Amino acid sequence: GGGALWGGRFASGPADALAALSKSTHFDWALAPYDIRGSKAHARVLHRAGLLTDEELSGMHKALDELAADVASGAFGPDPGDEDVHTALERGLIERAGADLGGKLRAGRSRNDQVATQFRMWLRDATRRVGSGVLDVVDALVAQAQAHPGAPMPGRTHLQHAQPVLLGHQLAAHAQALLRDVDRLADWDRRSAWSPYGSGALAGSSLGLDPDAVAAELGFTGSSANSIDGTASRDFAAEAAFVLAMIGVDLSRLSEEIILWATAEFGYVTLDDAFSTGSSIMPQKKNPDVAELARGKSGRLVGNLAGLMTTLKGLPLAYNRDLQEDKEPLFDSVAQLELLLPAVAGMVATLTFHTGRLAELAPAGFTLATDVAEWLVRQGVPFRVAHEAAGGCVRAAEARGVGLEDLTDAELAAVHPALDPSVRDVLTVEGSIASRNARGGTAGDRVAEQLTDLRTAVAAA
Ligand code: ARG
Repeated sequence: GGGALWGGRFASGPADALAALSKSTHFDWALAPYDIRGSKAHARVLHRAGLLTDEELSGMHKALDELAADVASGAFGPDPGDEDVHTALERGLIERAGADLGGKLRAGRSRNDQVATQFRMWLRDATRRVGSGVLDVVDALVAQAQAHPGAPMPGRTHLQHAQPVLLGHQLAAHAQALLRDVDRLADWDRRSAWSPYGSGALAGSSLGLDPDAVAAELGFTGSSANSIDGTASRDFAAEAAFVLAMIGVDLSRLSEEIILWATAEFGYVTLDDAFSTGSSIMPQKKNPDVAELARGKSGRLVGNLAGLMTTLKGLPLAYNRDLQEDKEPLFDSVAQLELLLPAVAGMVATLTFHTGRLAELAPAGFTLATDVAEWLVRQGVPFRVAHEAAGGCVRAAEARGVGLEDLTDAELAAVHPALDPSVRDVLTVEGSIASRNARGGTAGDRVAEQLTDLRTAVAAA
């Protein structure tokens, strides 16, 4: 084709079917601003290596700045004949700088090192945006937790009532997971912040160009230690896809709880009208679509990770065209999270918690049985025996259809001689929660400290 970057040894242009298959401008246009920044940096090292005069460098930069402005305004875009964003932008440069000057920029670089560098640049910016969206969800969770100090709820394992916990403790558990995801992004960035520019097609550049100068200009901490690895590796993309999928999964687990909590059977929360949807036929319906879309999209994010890993699995070094398939899954994961995160943050921030209902359910299902066993342990009873005795209390209470706190002195003593009436001191939700006061426990002071620490971590992230 007319604008192709590789026509010299071919007698004919590509078949239409190949051109259609090969084309990537409909998605890789997202890299255009990064390609132009890379070109400006590359022009500078060409100049420093004596391959561009002062005048040529300034002419090149002027043309690239014009091109950047035209890309930003939409005045310049891909043509049907352009294979990819790099091809299109070289055409745009030549249109502005002329073929003699414009044609000099390609010396010492390849689309293989260009695309590997620019995709990293795009991902580094995108993951920063995603991270800040995740922090907004963490903020909303912490705000809800702090708005309900001391509110108990049933803590669950196996979805069965287990032990009472504070609502704030449960919400903070989700916040902790999401904060680790933000930390993963920061850690990913540290590992991914090196520039493959200068790797050329695979073997490095022979023109005396300085890869570290380009890296520094583009905001990287360094350049590739190995030009083959620089152009062939995509573990940075796979790892980012994993962290993005993990964020999706963590949002999905939170969402699944909200979906359950909003049912009539749970009755823990009411969703704000602005973050729920109706039914086209059932006028009474109020549906948790935000949470359901979070749960649904998490599958898609996992799919993007799995697809990319599968693409990479059998690839020999260095560049293979298969690698063009690396971008769409990441573009999609980021786009989905950018839609999802503000909606989830808004949904969480506007939830109404029914604390009366939560408090009423907190002791239901004999959730204080563990407290009976631990009270017996404090009386010197071995835990194995104490567990058995507390189970006997549950059996007695269940048989009479009452709560543990309703057992008579005689019934308690019949279960185990050590069970005197003072055991009732621990048979309250408040007492149970307050007693779990070691680090990480659900006691009010501990949860308050945890929420303060979460706020500090969000502010520092
Ligand atoms: N558009 C390609 C990609 O996304 C980069 C071009 C490399 N093509 C090539 N034939 N070496 O990976």
